[in-house]
Amino acid sequence: MSRTIVLTGDRPTGRMHLGHYVGSLKNRFEMQDEFQCFFMIADYQALTTHRDRTEDLERHVREMVLDYLAAGFDPKKSVCFLQSQVPQLAELTMIFSNLVTLPRLLRNPTVKEEMGKMGLGNRVPYGFVGYPVSQAADILLFRPRYVPVGPDQRPHIELAQEVAARFNRIYGEVFPLPDGVYGTRLKGTDGQSKMGKSYDNAIDLSDKKASVRAKVMNMVTDPGRVRATDPGNPDVCSAFHYREVFDEENAEQVARACRSGSVGCTTCKGALADVLNDFMMPFRVRRKGFEEQPDLVRDILNLGGSRARIEGQRTLEHVKEVMGMGYKALMG
Ligand code: TRP
Ligand code: SF4
Repeated sequence: MSRTIVLTGDRPTGRMHLGHYVGSLKNRFEMQDEFQCFFMIADYQALTTHRDRTEDLERHVREMVLDYLAAGFDPKKSVCFLQSQVPQLAELTMIFSNLVTLPRLLRNPTVKEEMGKMGLGNRVPYGFVGYPVSQAADILLFRPRYVPVGPDQRPHIELAQEVAARFNRIYGEVFPLPDGVYGTRLKGTDGQSKMGKSYDNAIDLSDKKASVRAKVMNMVTDPGRVRATDPGNPDVCSAFHYREVFDEENAEQVARACRSGSVGCTTCKGALADVLNDFMMPFRVRRKGFEEQPDLVRDILNLGGSRARIEGQRTLEHVKEVMGMGYKALMG
């Protein structure tokens, strides 16, 4: 019986945070019972932005596996592997690179935004502009039905769908079209539109209780509020955004108390810190249990690598076959 496949991945560039959780981790780990899930640690993709920081990679990969485990990855059900351990991905990237035009790549809004942030002007590496092609290969090599990702990944999923359709049309039906499953975008603790490890506005999944509390107490609230009894406006308060995401059932009541001036910001944020710490408690318990198993990460990645290579080889042979590059008559 062949099961429905789910594939997703992340670049190992640092600790994972609550934005990753509500954007993608929550959705993907909930799918583990129903689907065969593959979770890729995209170390080659990390090179497209972090090519001169490879000395951090090994540590980041290990931390990423532990973040996954803490957030609910079940190694008995799902596969976790390193992109660089699956050479078939590079081969499929090479094939796909002929199915995408340069203007199509340069139109990608996520790539444009990231290019702006890098501040390189037109001195952007070829590998960076092309990473969505490689990501299309990451996805399609596993022939998934679903790809759970954060909302900023939508342009990449759309490109993967286009590449799949184009390949199928030119060479023959190999790839089912995958659907993105999009989570929620979480704002940063500074109120910026996105929580990101490079903005210093993240609450990490591995943060200790005291650190979560300190970050919450530092959040900017309604700046128009001088005394605790002044009426406040939750719509301009960055702490309130976290209520809406993590404490939905009480959010309306908090908004009312804020507007009527019956709760002060210090009290309100103290309660939010408790909400977040309660939410993160299971992560801490699981992480501790997994950290006590010294060979676990190594075993997960080794086994995951072999499973991913087997899947990848199967697709790649099919791909070459329909392309007339199986060379059965010539070489078989
Ligand atoms: N671009 C993704 C990110 O930055 C990481 C990624 C690489 C990915 N390959 C993937 C996501 C394949 C989904 C599917 O988070
Ligand atoms: Fe924000 Fe709460 Fe202060 Fe209102 S009372 S501004 S919701 S922290």
